[in-house]
Amino acid sequence: MSATVMSPAVRRRWWWFLWGLLALLATGIAAYFVPPYLTGSSAVPIDRAIVGYYASLVVHALPAGLTLIIGPWQFVPRLRARFPKLHRVLGRVYLISVVAASGAAAYASAVTTSGFALQVAFYLLIVAWLYTAAQAYRTIRRREIALHRVWMIRNYALTFAAVTLRVYLMIGMRVLPSSVPFKDIYTAAAWAGLLGNVLIAEYFIIQRTLAPLARRAPRSGSAAGSPVAEPSAAV
Ligand code: HEM
Repeated sequence: MSATVMSPAVRRRWWWFLWGLLALLATGIAAYFVPPYLTGSSAVPIDRAIVGYYASLVVHALPAGLTLIIGPWQFVPRLRARFPKLHRVLGRVYLISVVAASGAAAYASAVTTSGFALQVAFYLLIVAWLYTAAQAYRTIRRREIALHRVWMIRNYALTFAAVTLRVYLMIGMRVLPSSVPFKDIYTAAAWAGLLGNVLIAEYFIIQRTLAPLARRAPRSGSAAGSPVAEPSAAV
């Protein structure tokens, strides 16, 4: 039986296609949803009677929009190699923005009237966003570059939940009957956006990092044979 193996040229073309789609969607969502908060308005109806709600969305949306736009560029190997200082500066801006946006999102999640199930999704996202950012920072301080990359893939998958949530919400509102309440579509979109992105990121990490190690392990004659033991060797 012959397995279909993608040539490096085809794989490179796929990589650029997916990267382009990711960057386009990230920039498009940030460009549409964030600028209204610079002028005191919003892209969606906001209950301004809730104390501090609008202010928390402003403090959240601006740095969160930055993370969405910066992220894709940080994954381009050629840019990292040619402009390492720019990569470090943008990396710091990204991580500080994650912390600022998370703090404001914690307040917005507490006061949102969109329901408990959505609040749980948001708090889970906040904790995971901060944890993966902390791990990405810790690993790069130790010069563990491959592990830093893995944690940044996980972190950006969570950042990108802001895109998938809105895409699923738009699709849901178009295809579902009007008897399905908006609140339910919003909650389902948030959970699907979060879980779907995490699964895709883990699939990508396994394919790129663990699978090559697992395939190599028996040939190297390692008694332990654990592909998880040294993930940094493959990336
Ligand atoms: C990944 C972690 C994120 C978390 C935990 C989070 C959480 C939240 C929460 C709790 C709200 C208020 C929702 C409500 O009251 O119904 C909100 C709104 C908002 N978020 Fe995020 N968010 C995240 C990422 C992002 C990103 C990356 C962007 C970039 C565009 C973004 C842009 C916005 C905007 C613009 C709003 C205001 C509502 C709107 O105009 O659509 N968020 N977010």
